[in-house]
Amino acid sequence: MNRVVEVLPDLEALIDRALAIVVDKLNTAVAERGIGTIALSGGSTPKPLYEKLAEQSLPWDKIHVFWGDERYVPADHPGSNQRMARLAWLDKVAIPASNIHPMATNESDPAISAQAHEAELQAFFQIKANEFPEFDVILLGIGDDAHTASLFPHTDALQVHDRLITVGSKDGQPRITFTAPLINHARSVIFMVAGASKQSALTQIFASVADDMTYPARLIHPSGELWWLLDQPAGQNLELKT
Ligand code: 6PG
Repeated sequence: MNRVVEVLPDLEALIDRALAIVVDKLNTAVAERGIGTIALSGGSTPKPLYEKLAEQSLPWDKIHVFWGDERYVPADHPGSNQRMARLAWLDKVAIPASNIHPMATNESDPAISAQAHEAELQAFFQIKANEFPEFDVILLGIGDDAHTASLFPHTDALQVHDRLITVGSKDGQPRITFTAPLINHARSVIFMVAGASKQSALTQIFASVADDMTYPARLIHPSGELWWLLDQPAGQNLELKT
């Protein structure tokens, strides 16, 4: 794992840094492999990044967009991660509709949606069962509770190691989420963390010893690049063991 931690002065600087890295990774992927794949995080932090991506000139026909997790709500629901990214970015660029791969949330049983999305990834990446694809970029955030994607503390999703996609749960509400092993196969994982409320979670995530089930973002240690982009309020008291 190649971990880089950067503390940026404020959210705007964090977003600009994330933008530069994402644009570089996607352009490199397209240049080297003819295709770029990115999985998006939800929540509020990444929205300005998506708005800035909408202003970029990228080879959209060669870029494929996925989501690292999704709330189990209709695609037009205000809480939908898909809806947020489409409004902020995807509806504004000439990306083919077939290059956008949302997690379906219209099955009565979320487990069916999880299985269907896993099958979609296997077909897209042309991999077999128990193989893991390498996304070029996976964007992540963390909650105040140190969850990431929809891998919430002390939930069954944290124990899933043989699947790409599983069902998460937040306060009893179902989510569809990438599993930790799928995230850990990415070429680059980029955490974007802003705000003083994240300090405590970051301290536990970066601690040399702490419980991974209590602080699920500790489960993320990709074989590729791991970027932690923090704003000053989030990262100012972080002691990093070199
Ligand atoms: C989601 C996200 C989730 C998010 C964190 C941080 O579906 O909500 O994927 O993991 O990244 O909760 O959210 P904020 O950026 O809003 O703090």
